[in-house]
Amino acid sequence: MIFAKLVVLAMLAIVAIYLFVTAPEPLPDNAGPSGSADRRVAIAQVFEAANAINHEARRTYTARVVGPGQQAGLEFAEDWREKQRQAGPLPALFLRLVSSELTKKPQPLGLFLGSDEPINPSNLFTGEQKVRFGRMQAETRPQVFATPDGYQVAMYPDVASAEPCVRCHNEHKASPKRDWKLDDIMGATTWIYPQRDVSLAEFLVIVANVYSSVEAAWETVLAKAATFTPPPAIGPHWPKAGARVLPDSQTFMAEVYQASAPTVVRILSRNALSPQEVGP
Ligand code: HEC
Repeated sequence: MIFAKLVVLAMLAIVAIYLFVTAPEPLPDNAGPSGSADRRVAIAQVFEAANAINHEARRTYTARVVGPGQQAGLEFAEDWREKQRQAGPLPALFLRLVSSELTKKPQPLGLFLGSDEPINPSNLFTGEQKVRFGRMQAETRPQVFATPDGYQVAMYPDVASAEPCVRCHNEHKASPKRDWKLDDIMGATTWIYPQRDVSLAEFLVIVANVYSSVEAAWETVLAKAATFTPPPAIGPHWPKAGARVLPDSQTFMAEVYQASAPTVVRILSRNALSPQEVGP
């Protein structure tokens, strides 16, 4: 697991050296005359990497923390922030923690989980996003587009991949839709950025931002768990069937690195080491 993190870090280091230290002659058809550090990475590539990281973080949280945690008697709830409530956040609210960590970064990458039939009205898609969401449901593939005011947007399907998704949303008193079925596209993980492309160096920073936002979100969950009576064990000895135990940050992140590394490294390599055409 540590290996996957090392691969990502090594990759970042190689690209950094490639960009800033060795400054090789630019390849003829992939960079401007001033060199590869000027290479632009299409925003769709940035979204793809960010989404892979967030997807694995959410999957790790849902399948590896919430599922087994509930079986061991830990609770995950909507009102988890209430002081007296001994519960962690629901998966959608974990994503919101990640999203709010991202807003603290200088690079303005926005993350949002929306739907056309949301439990929380503030998650409702409107305007162009609603139209694109309809198209995404029909085509069952991600949508990448620009808004009239110049924002770049990517929407990735959020699928009812397990029975609890369907059950909880159908039974929730605030849900406007009560006939969700398994494999329905319930919403879209939506990413927003104000530019069509970024430099390769900015791309690396954004990737690092997403990882560190996931880590900060997890640390928020751990801080809450530490207030439970009795607090669950937190450490590297996780998971342990039936035990109230949570992974420490390093252990949680090792899972996220391992699961996301193949995609992230592939996108980094594709953009750093081979000609990259920036789309319209
Ligand atoms: C135990 C209940 C519960 C489970 C299980 C659950 N959700 Fe949710 N989900 C919620 C609640 C509550 C919200 C609203 C959170 C907020 O305030 O933004 C939400 C929000 C969402 C949203 C944003 C739109 C909206 O409805 O507000 C999507 C999309 C979503 N969930 C999809 C899923 C998927 C897919 C799964 C399974 C992988 C899942 N949910 C599992 C309760 C649940």
